[in-house]
Amino acid sequence: MNTIDYVINFLHNIELSWRILIVTIICAIVWRIMLTTFYRLIRKKQFGKKEKYKNYSISILGIILLACIGYGFYEPYTIKTTFTKISSNKITKPIRIVQLSDFHSDPTIRVEDDLPEIIRKLQPDLILLTGDYINSEAGLPVFQKSAKEIAKIAPTYGVYGNWEAWVYPGVKVFNNTGITKLLSDVLLLEIKEQKICLAGGGIDDSFDKIMIKLEEHKKDFRIFLNHFPEMWREADGRADLMLAGDTHNGQIVIPVFGPMIRMVRQDKVFYPHGLQQPGKEILMYVSRGLGMEGGAAPRVRFNCAPEVAVIDLLPENYK
Ligand SMILES: [Fe+2]
Repeated sequence: MNTIDYVINFLHNIELSWRILIVTIICAIVWRIMLTTFYRLIRKKQFGKKEKYKNYSISILGIILLACIGYGFYEPYTIKTTFTKISSNKITKPIRIVQLSDFHSDPTIRVEDDLPEIIRKLQPDLILLTGDYINSEAGLPVFQKSAKEIAKIAPTYGVYGNWEAWVYPGVKVFNNTGITKLLSDVLLLEIKEQKICLAGGGIDDSFDKIMIKLEEHKKDFRIFLNHFPEMWREADGRADLMLAGDTHNGQIVIPVFGPMIRMVRQDKVFYPHGLQQPGKEILMYVSRGLGMEGGAAPRVRFNCAPEVAVIDLLPENYK
């Protein structure tokens, strides 16, 4: 491991509180120096050439910092579509899945109204949702209006996340949207004359029965939905693909430093955004989500735009 790799690895593994502290200190230092420089420039003091360059460099650094903070409040409104291909000998004709996760809808509309048109153009065969839909009950109409339009595009299935299970257990977020909620269910779907086995459930559900049923469908391509990426352990060897969310990929991704907030649950592992193979016999796609953590958390994303994830299931050797 070279020095740069060592530094990156170190930064990626230190505790959240330390990461926040380090970034805050860096920002405070830059900010302080910038203010001092501006003050000195305003006073029109005569500078030497060397000092002049120093002052301008610090001012530019400060402006970049301000621009980054401003952009952090703008990025939540910019959707990025990502494309991932998965080949399998269980697939005979290409199937396009769109995964949506972590809407975290607030009363103010962000990306919700733009989503249906973006998804319609992608022509998915299946739309799958992996939890955390609202930040408040006032955000429910915003989510449901969008969800209703999305469910008209293709068969849409979803599971609940921790916000539905722990914060708003009484709110039926999928009501009148046309989305089918998976509650420890295993469904056998027929898409383009081939069977797709779809399973999923909430974060507190027991999956023992689901896993037995999935084992019975070994010949079919099996998809497992759960909000928490950690649940891949339950599905390893029983599902071909798992879709998850939850982490938002940290929401703020600082170049070199990586994701700021690394959400970890019971197995203390941070699962980054994208396709990965956490076990021997399972692929997992972790969405970075569409919205932002609720409560008092600032509604900020940086270098981690809201994601519409397109996953193309393809036959082996498909060209
Ligand atoms: Fe979330």
